[in-house]
Amino acid sequence: MATAGTQGYRKGLVDLGRGQVSREIFVNEAIYAQEQERLFARAWLFVGHESQIPNPGDFFVSGMGEESVILCRDRAGEIHVFLNSCRHRGMKVCRYDEGTTAVFTCPYHGWSYGTDGKLVGVPYFREAYHSTLDRAQWGLVEVAQMCNYKGGIWANWDKAAPSFTDYLGDFTPYLDQTFDGWDGSDGGAEILGGIQKWRVPCNWKFPAENFSGDSYHNISHRSVDLVGVGPSGSGRRDMPELNLARKLHIAVPERGHQTTAYLLPQTRSVPPGYQHSSVVSDYFAYCEEERRRRQGEWGRLITLVGEVFPSMAFLARQPRTIAVWHPRGPHETEIWRWFLVDKAAPQEVKDFLRDYYIRYSGPAGMTEQDDMENWNYAHAASRGVIARRFPYNYEQGLGTEIQDYEWDGFRLPGVVVDLTRANSSEHNLRNLYRRWAHFMEADSWDDLAARHRPAGAVAEAAE
Ligand code: FES
Ligand SMILES: [Fe+2]
Repeated sequence: MATAGTQGYRKGLVDLGRGQVSREIFVNEAIYAQEQERLFARAWLFVGHESQIPNPGDFFVSGMGEESVILCRDRAGEIHVFLNSCRHRGMKVCRYDEGTTAVFTCPYHGWSYGTDGKLVGVPYFREAYHSTLDRAQWGLVEVAQMCNYKGGIWANWDKAAPSFTDYLGDFTPYLDQTFDGWDGSDGGAEILGGIQKWRVPCNWKFPAENFSGDSYHNISHRSVDLVGVGPSGSGRRDMPELNLARKLHIAVPERGHQTTAYLLPQTRSVPPGYQHSSVVSDYFAYCEEERRRRQGEWGRLITLVGEVFPSMAFLARQPRTIAVWHPRGPHETEIWRWFLVDKAAPQEVKDFLRDYYIRYSGPAGMTEQDDMENWNYAHAASRGVIARRFPYNYEQGLGTEIQDYEWDGFRLPGVVVDLTRANSSEHNLRNLYRRWAHFMEADSWDDLAARHRPAGAVAEAAE
């Protein structure tokens, strides 16, 4: 088995022709160190939402890879993302989770920085530095690129990286459903206060692949399905309307993003029932109508769980949430979970959703507990010298991918597996690891682009 050279990831560790991935990529310390350089220092990462910092001086302390960053709005209203590390000796300049401030004052020796990152205060500037310190050179380190896309704030340390929308590519309309209102309003979502953060003893790629579209693991959630915790109150977590739809795995091979989605028929479907007050039921019925009216064909698509490469996952439906998998060494992941609601929704709807979200997701959520148990034991059982000699199997559905998928008059971008026919596939998971291998091998963005084969997943079985 290949070790962590920068070449050979594709054949030695991620062999998609045979549908096999080495356990080394989950447990090997050297590979983990290279991921920090090659993935987290180059890829676009989700850091937060503008609704978390509505006013000048507001900040939210987030993370990019292993590092702490400050998302803040300066006095002029501009949004910034800074490395949360003092330029003098590295102290964390902000040790709160969120708040409002005029300056970030370092607790170690007292350098202070404006919310625009400028170094504005240096104790004993005249006496100790004889006024010669060039303060303009010693502001907080700012990310190379930042993008506010429909309220979601994304950042990148690499000047050479493509723009965020280019990075999304054909995946853009699939991601939109997380940030738009359920009524189809542009960027109509906001964060419901309180970010959940907790650690799980597994490699970050376990949750990443699960949220890429592991529809096969539904057996893990059997008890949740039986209890019927969903907002419909029915036995299944899926909505009744979806029985009329096509269930799809959709992947964008040249970008590494993927999602599971339902494509509804052109004819009207039955809106989901919500066993709650009429305010809640009426709101969701209104959203179904309005979304189709505003978004046309795209209003027929409902994205469920998906992943923006490498470490941001979303659930656009229920519970509506964003997760980031922060690596904390190869054997531990810190999960941060944001929850979203429509800005314009009645308060009763927001309260109803808050209760439901907590029941379902996060460290106390019934469904997330099932998932965490799997990741935690799978990781631990993969670490031993014997265990790591045996690759994982990702063969499911090899060769069933469809390019230019069309159903009921709507053609979808990306490469699709129709689960209505195939039942289940690991197409999306293979897409994640293909991009992972390309990122780990590529020395530049041009090199990365050249590694993508236009025939994508369809040609894979022949490799
Ligand atoms: S480490 Fe921040 S002022 Fe010295
Ligand atoms: Fe799950």
